[in-house]
Amino acid sequence: MSYLQGDKPISITRLLAMHAEREKITMLTAYDSTMSALLNRCGIETILIGDSMGNVIQGHSCTTPVTVEQMVYHTECVVRANTHAFLITDLPFASYGDPVQALKSAAAVMKAGADMVKIEGGGDWQVEIIRYLVERAVPVCAHLGLLPQSVHLLGGYKVQGKSKDAATIMLEQALACQEAGAQMVVLEAIPSSLGARITSEVHIPTIGIGAGPDCSGQVLVLQDMLGISPGKPPKFVKNFMEGRHSVEAAIKAYVREVKSGKFPGLEHGFAG
Ligand code: KIV
Repeated sequence: MSYLQGDKPISITRLLAMHAEREKITMLTAYDSTMSALLNRCGIETILIGDSMGNVIQGHSCTTPVTVEQMVYHTECVVRANTHAFLITDLPFASYGDPVQALKSAAAVMKAGADMVKIEGGGDWQVEIIRYLVERAVPVCAHLGLLPQSVHLLGGYKVQGKSKDAATIMLEQALACQEAGAQMVVLEAIPSSLGARITSEVHIPTIGIGAGPDCSGQVLVLQDMLGISPGKPPKFVKNFMEGRHSVEAAIKAYVREVKSGKFPGLEHGFAG
């Protein structure tokens, strides 16, 4: 919990240094001020204002209804209580289909206080969007593996990168996103072995969610790790409220377990 030793906000430079020093990076989602303040108190280094907001706040079954205006609103809510954490905001579905639209969407969430934007996918067109944004001073986190914004195309929430060919393509996409200027990549629902392989081949931090223990850091949806999301949780989720009496204790346990490598365990990962 190095940043708690000083007052400085976490910068991308600090996150890259942590990655170089092999210190695990902690990330959780938040969408409001109360949780933003709590995550800061508990030592979380990065907060993701995720478009999972569409599921957990708005009650949709997917993230596609979420708008840029809503991401701006929730970013502003998180920013007001943020003291230290590095803030990443999702650009929602169909808000970065071409470079001009992507810059307009990114500018809106950056002006609201985001430190970085996240976009889903590593195909040729997304790589060009990343390059365009980075050249215009917008820091970008890529997102590969299971892409929730593509759920209708994928036919459901399924583990990605299981075949040899799919794994090779994903590794190539991670390298292409990095080459285009992405400074971080989220890897969602892929075999643990592929999470390890991508992490060893790129030099930017990888943040796993169902991508095994070898990623540079971990992220979960806050409501999932508190065990309050309705329905059966995905395999990669651990309920940190179990055996604890406060939300603060649960979040602090998450920070400890990510830092020590205890979370994620083998049981939270996928085989190749
Ligand atoms: O929107 C979100 O919360 C995300 C995580 C699942 C990584 O993108």
